[in-house]
Amino acid sequence: MITALNNVAAMASYELADLGDPNAISLAQNESAFPISPRALSAGAEALHLATLYPDPDWRDLRHAISKVHDIPMDQVLCGAGSMELIGCLIRAFCGQGDEVLGTEFGYLFVATATQQAGASYVQAKEPDLRVDIDCLIKDVSDRTKIVFVCNPGNPTGTRVPNAEIVRLRAALPETVLLIVDQAYGEFDDQDHQPILDMVRDGRTVMLRTFSKAYGLASARAGWGYFPSDIATETRKLMNPNNISNVSQAMATAAMVDQDHMQSVVNRTAAIRTRFITRLQNAGMDVLESHTNFVLIRYPDSTAAKGADSVLRSSGIILRGMGGYGLPDCLRVTVGSSDVMTKVADILISLKETQNDK
Ligand SMILES: Cc1ncc(COP(=O)(O)O)c(C=O)c1O
Repeated sequence: MITALNNVAAMASYELADLGDPNAISLAQNESAFPISPRALSAGAEALHLATLYPDPDWRDLRHAISKVHDIPMDQVLCGAGSMELIGCLIRAFCGQGDEVLGTEFGYLFVATATQQAGASYVQAKEPDLRVDIDCLIKDVSDRTKIVFVCNPGNPTGTRVPNAEIVRLRAALPETVLLIVDQAYGEFDDQDHQPILDMVRDGRTVMLRTFSKAYGLASARAGWGYFPSDIATETRKLMNPNNISNVSQAMATAAMVDQDHMQSVVNRTAAIRTRFITRLQNAGMDVLESHTNFVLIRYPDSTAAKGADSVLRSSGIILRGMGGYGLPDCLRVTVGSSDVMTKVADILISLKETQNDK
């Protein structure tokens, strides 16, 4: 009999969103609601003829653009087939059997999967009130902790902690522990990110970003990270060479250069998000603050959450149930276009009013 490694046989596959009918409107995967930068679109079209060739394995144009915009050294940037690839390679490079990755109670679920892939153990620090709590993280560091993984802002909560708190976490961690700060939604978070960049420069911390959210390039599969040089060298050994296609590299490069477009997407997303949250809160619903392109709604129980989900599904709109995150009483809604969000709010508020009347 052919058997997989014990840790592989024991693990479940990573659970993706149930998107239902292909014609439905998906608000389930935190994709951007807005068109891609026109500059990225034409750069992608111009790169199509390069499909005969392998892509640049060193992502030179892309890294150059990232390094100029973020004012960081180009040779400390790695680009992944989505930031998921970087998460997986980082964890496999630094953790194995007997080691622990310390994340948070409602942290991004792929980190748990990547930890299992590495044969290591995933430990989750409490997130009281759906917020990362640095003291809870510090308390859960053990002799076996190799990586501490913090997603800021958080997915699926949408909440954030001040970067000064992350700096405090770093200061409390042993030198042998790698801190990964996943900022997949960092562009939507208006706080100063310089303290995180400074921590990377000082070593022992990695910052991850993606083109899948604010840049609207989820299908391009492009993410990047700012790494201390020694951490980058080891991580890169586990990455697939030629991991990002020519077209994707060209699109991501142009999207990074077009900061005005990205900023306008962030501003428009925030405006729709604020209107949506305010309407729901005024109707007496429990909605968390958000520093991302999605919103988490809390229902009194899982039956109410499932009920709202299925009413929206029957109207052709798909949200993300949160049972996998241990939050079966919550629904996560990606911020869609203004019209779609008005429709979602109308449906959810009228459902609530019907229930109030009962
Ligand atoms: C917190 C977080 N990190 C990382 C990712 C992975 O993004 P990608 O692989 O598309 O870059 C996601 C995707 O939803 C996410 O929510």
